[in-house]
Amino acid sequence: MTASIKPSTGAQFSRIHGVGGYRPVRVIPNSEVLDWIDSSDEWIRTRSGITERRWAGPEETVAEMSVQAASKAIAMAGISPEQVGGVIVATVSHLKQTPAIATTIAERLGCGTAPAFDISAACAGFGYGLSLADGMVRGGSAEYVIVIGVERLSDLTDIHDRSTAFIFGDGAGAAVVGPSDTPGIGKVIWGSDGSQADVISQTAAWDTAFAKPDAVNGAGDETKWPALRMEGQTVFRWAVWDMAKAAQQALDAAGITADQLGAFIPHQANMRIIDAMIKALKLPESVPVARDIAETGNTSAASIPLAMERMLQAGEAKSGDLALIIGFGAGLVYAAAVVTLP
Ligand code: UT7
Repeated sequence: MTASIKPSTGAQFSRIHGVGGYRPVRVIPNSEVLDWIDSSDEWIRTRSGITERRWAGPEETVAEMSVQAASKAIAMAGISPEQVGGVIVATVSHLKQTPAIATTIAERLGCGTAPAFDISAACAGFGYGLSLADGMVRGGSAEYVIVIGVERLSDLTDIHDRSTAFIFGDGAGAAVVGPSDTPGIGKVIWGSDGSQADVISQTAAWDTAFAKPDAVNGAGDETKWPALRMEGQTVFRWAVWDMAKAAQQALDAAGITADQLGAFIPHQANMRIIDAMIKALKLPESVPVARDIAETGNTSAASIPLAMERMLQAGEAKSGDLALIIGFGAGLVYAAAVVTLP
């Protein structure tokens, strides 16, 4: 007789128990961006909604920002780091490919021998991580999982590229996912479209470019260092049309209507995209909307947890409220879900 495998069972449901963020110290106002590109404060504000962004200094590494954000999330969750059974780090801007930065972060957090790995899903990275964490908690492979979205996009920004120099920011956001008596993470609606892989991408692979330009000592080669390029209008149209549909699917899958939301926390890519989504979803005016982009810029994988933390801290949304989150970006990839706020 064939032996049967003992099933692995976890918690019936999962939820976010804590959230935390880290914002770099250095503020870059639009006026500083104007030193690099031919633009205006007014153009940047009206076309993107951004007034300033934060850029990381040398000490504010991907690992350091992650540890700071995750420590806050662990403290809010009220658990000890040893209880963490998984560390997922979503990033596209950790410049050392091997080993994954997640193992260093797990070790620095005191998470023992917890499995730790990086994922690359750009601005959908937090949602992708959340989906994995939800599956791990419910499948029984971990009791608590930390999902970290972290970026140093300033390292991959061509400050002379008019179409991207004003957009990107740095930072980290983290959430602790763990067991719950009631459903706290709705079905994640996620997907990809590789036919549009070129619309947001790095200009060159690492093997063709290795000399990072350094404005201070003049080293490196600015023409070879890969930066992020984006076909802004193509992404804009995709975001407005297709992403509103994905957001609606996440609401439907969770059995929630827009008026039952306590918060809408979309990826902070462009204030006009946020406004277009509000219209497409027929979101009532009473639902508070995350507009962290104004002071943070687009921090890719970090943007949703950073915006979530800010809304909770500002009292715009409260613990137990239902929030619709949606991330979308390079890949192209997307992930949307309804979650209960910690
Ligand atoms: O996080 C991943 C997902 N990313 C996104 O969702 C981003 C989506 N895209 C966007 O947010 C927008 O496309 C941008 C903010 C990047 C650009 O805004 P846009 O309204 O699409 O600008 P555009 O590229 O259509 O350019 C409009 C005009 C052009 O001038 P003309 O041809 O109309 O005379 C550009 O040359 O604005 C000009 N322009 C600028 N002017 C001042 C382009 N960049 C600049 C600039 N400053 N930096």
